[in-house]
Amino acid sequence: MKRFGSRGFPYHRGRRLRSLKNLREILSENQLSVNNLVMPYFVREDNDNELVDKSSGLKRLTVFELTKEIEKIVKNGVKTVALFPIVSKEKKSENAEESYNKDNLICRALKEIHAEFPNLIVICDIALDAYTLSGHDGVINKNGKIDNDATLDILAKMSLNFASSGCKIIAPSDMMDGRIKVIRESLESNNFFETCILSYSSKFCSNFYSPFREVLGSKKNLGDSSKETYQIDFRNSREALKESLEDIYEGSDILMVKPAGYYLDIIKEIKDNSLIPIAAYQVSGEYCMIKAAADKNLLNLEKVVIESLTCIKRSGADLIFSYFSDIVAEWIKK
Ligand code: PBG
Repeated sequence: MKRFGSRGFPYHRGRRLRSLKNLREILSENQLSVNNLVMPYFVREDNDNELVDKSSGLKRLTVFELTKEIEKIVKNGVKTVALFPIVSKEKKSENAEESYNKDNLICRALKEIHAEFPNLIVICDIALDAYTLSGHDGVINKNGKIDNDATLDILAKMSLNFASSGCKIIAPSDMMDGRIKVIRESLESNNFFETCILSYSSKFCSNFYSPFREVLGSKKNLGDSSKETYQIDFRNSREALKESLEDIYEGSDILMVKPAGYYLDIIKEIKDNSLIPIAAYQVSGEYCMIKAAADKNLLNLEKVVIESLTCIKRSGADLIFSYFSDIVAEWIKK
């Protein structure tokens, strides 16, 4: 059948550029690099139990175990980690005082890590959920509501605490209004001019966080209570953009979209409407889904992980938090 002359074919054949491996390589638009990866870790006290939720595969490490893990990933070129503390029950309280204790688990971890790996970038989470009895990211007032403005003061103290312990990037993930401004002002007025703020500007109220909450031990405390009065409704994208732009005005250096895989449109929207780096968080539920399917041989782990992260990058993420970062760094290196 004669097809010449119709709609550009055969002068245009998309398959030409896909015909050779090296052509595909040199023309590929996005490369996942080890520089893009952030490895999240859960840190526990020495006397706390491992409580590894075996089904999720997420580990809780002591500071010592953590430094051993970091040694491995640093060898593979990873430059950034994010820490989340497993705060022991007796240290949790209504007003999260432990979050600004100068000798808390995260401060001790920061010092140990920086002593061994002075160039490693350690991102510290700023939110009260690990420290409150309620498991909420903010404190609760006498009417049973999350008290936005009372929470801000604690978040600012917590941020100063980590900055004084050597943290270079603090990452508020609490979604309280005005927190970036208040944190930035308190960093500036205490001469922490170079501490970066990575704001979880578009943090959705997602069901994909539950394995994380299980590991953190906040799931039971939260019970049926939800974070929907502060995290963004997953039906909304304009709201996510509004929150992100607001965080830029308030003094954020890097924005974050979380979760990542089902929120690629949000990543792209924010990338197209801003001029600062964007991070995306492939959260615990996304990790578990891929891992469970691969464990059942339904999917090829390496291929699917690389695809999922590359697609997150393609949508506009500069930095990607993923529980696969350690193994991906190994794959990239080989
Ligand atoms: C806490 C926080 C959460 C996550 C990161 N920081 C959970 C939450 O908001 O309840 C989730 C990360 C994950 O699921 O991997 N503010």
